[in-house]
Amino acid sequence: MNERRLTPLDRLLAGINDALTTVAVPAGRAARDYPAADIDEVELDARAKAHAAGLMRVNHAGEIAAQGLYQGHAVVARDEKISAQMRQSAQEEFDHLAWCEQRLAELGDGPSKLNSLWYVGSFAIGAASGVFGDKWSLGFIKETEQQVCEHLSGHLQGLPDEDARSRAVVAQMRDEEREHGEKAAAAGAAELPRPVKDLMRLTSKLMTSTAYRL
Ligand SMILES: [Fe+2]
Ligand SMILES: [Fe+2]
Repeated sequence: MNERRLTPLDRLLAGINDALTTVAVPAGRAARDYPAADIDEVELDARAKAHAAGLMRVNHAGEIAAQGLYQGHAVVARDEKISAQMRQSAQEEFDHLAWCEQRLAELGDGPSKLNSLWYVGSFAIGAASGVFGDKWSLGFIKETEQQVCEHLSGHLQGLPDEDARSRAVVAQMRDEEREHGEKAAAAGAAELPRPVKDLMRLTSKLMTSTAYRL
């Protein structure tokens, strides 16, 4: 089948459409099975439940930000193949988003109230880093995914031991974030300068500590 080349306007309109789909709750159906589908729900005490919900809300906000980043990159990517690759990763991130939303609902809680802010901020950062060229935007993706992997590993330790359903969701997400990072590296990602990496850590710390509560 012939694939039509997307004009910048096509990409922008697709981006706006993606944005509206992303921030809407419910996010929609994941294309793949829920990782916790076969795991029994256990009754958590109120404190453990609230903590698990806080962590899953952080992860949900992270996935909103991932949508913004990938879609922002895709809009400005110069190479059509890289743009398509980013859209594909964004689709997998969409499953993560839907899974986090489902787990939050199961824990009797809901997403961050600041989702639109996380999305718009990340979209702007994604598009801005793409302006410097594909190898830098790929470098940004590689670094982001690496930091997200570390962050999710921390959550696997921090989640209540008995909350196997949240763990299953987070573990699968972490494996896929690792693959996204490797894909970006293989596509020619540049290594970001240390101060940029530090700034990214700082920004995500701000976002995660806010989304835990709000
Ligand atoms: Fe993700
Ligand atoms: Fe990812």
